[in-house]
Amino acid sequence: MKIAITKERRAHERRVAATPDTVKKFIALGFTVAIEQGAGEASRIPDRDYQTAGATIEADTAALLRDADIVLKVQRPILGSEKLAGEGDINELALIKRGALLIAMLSPYADPSAINQYAQAGITAMTLEFVPRITRAQSMDVLSSQSNLAGYRAVLEAINVYDRAMPMMMTAAGTIAPARVMVLGAGVAGLQAIATARRLGAIVSATDVRAASKEQVESLGGKFVMVDSEEVKNAETAGGYAKEMSDDYKRRQAELVAETLKKQDIAICTALIPGRKAPTLINDEMVYSMADARWRCCSSQL
Ligand code: NAI
Repeated sequence: MKIAITKERRAHERRVAATPDTVKKFIALGFTVAIEQGAGEASRIPDRDYQTAGATIEADTAALLRDADIVLKVQRPILGSEKLAGEGDINELALIKRGALLIAMLSPYADPSAINQYAQAGITAMTLEFVPRITRAQSMDVLSSQSNLAGYRAVLEAINVYDRAMPMMMTAAGTIAPARVMVLGAGVAGLQAIATARRLGAIVSATDVRAASKEQVESLGGKFVMVDSEEVKNAETAGGYAKEMSDDYKRRQAELVAETLKKQDIAICTALIPGRKAPTLINDEMVYSMADARWRCCSSQL
């Protein structure tokens, strides 16, 4: 059985679906592995490392996919209806053979129409976002692993634009106050952002609609800020995710966030509701009200 790993073509994507280590594991299980030429470049994995691990390198995408039984990707394949800058008219989906198994983060909520196209192409598509987040499947939980990194990275990005120090700096010449960071959404990404900002010496506050996150925020040394409302008792689904809140709750939350943000230097937004557009919790006015608007940094909604 042949496993094929293509180059990721979507904008800003630098990951690759296999490393030389995972290639070795697939080969030990009896698969043959083919990698598209340059697939690992953006992750700083040269083709020769895949070759050393036992994979073959294929320059022609059509030849790579023509006889592949399993196709591993990070993001969903390029569909015929899409035109990507610099990539010409490639239609990755059309190159995958009927009956093949496609495993990737297929963003089923972002592009539900693609699901029909996989079915019409006779492909069995498995989306990693739908792997249950249960103990047995933890090693396949891409939502947790990627959110964790995103939360960490958001803090690093913020520091890059925040031209001052994060921790309190006391010198004979004077004292610099520690940065104040607010994290909106204290799930996996938010908690990692809180932990990272705290490790760097910032004063951190956080908000979430799930009451359960209060204890987690506090255990990381953050201050929890939350709307006092009966509604939070039902804010969490049985699966542990947030529900969309009422308009009244949103208004009260906006007031609370606006008030808190006035004293903050950095705001990091990680709030998400599965299957829906991320809630917009900060508007321009709030950003300009921040402690010193020159230093502000809002990460994009993760
Ligand atoms: P997520 O990525 O869907 O959401 C991120 C956070 O945004 C959540 O904490 C959510 O409550 C919050 N949020 C949504 N709307 C908001 C709003 N209007 N204002 C403020 N915050 C808002 O969720 P994530 O991070 O993937 O997981 C959430 C929880 O699921 C975790 O904290 C954990 O309790 C649970 N979980 C359990 C796992 C397991 O192994 N059983 C694995 C991963 C997560």
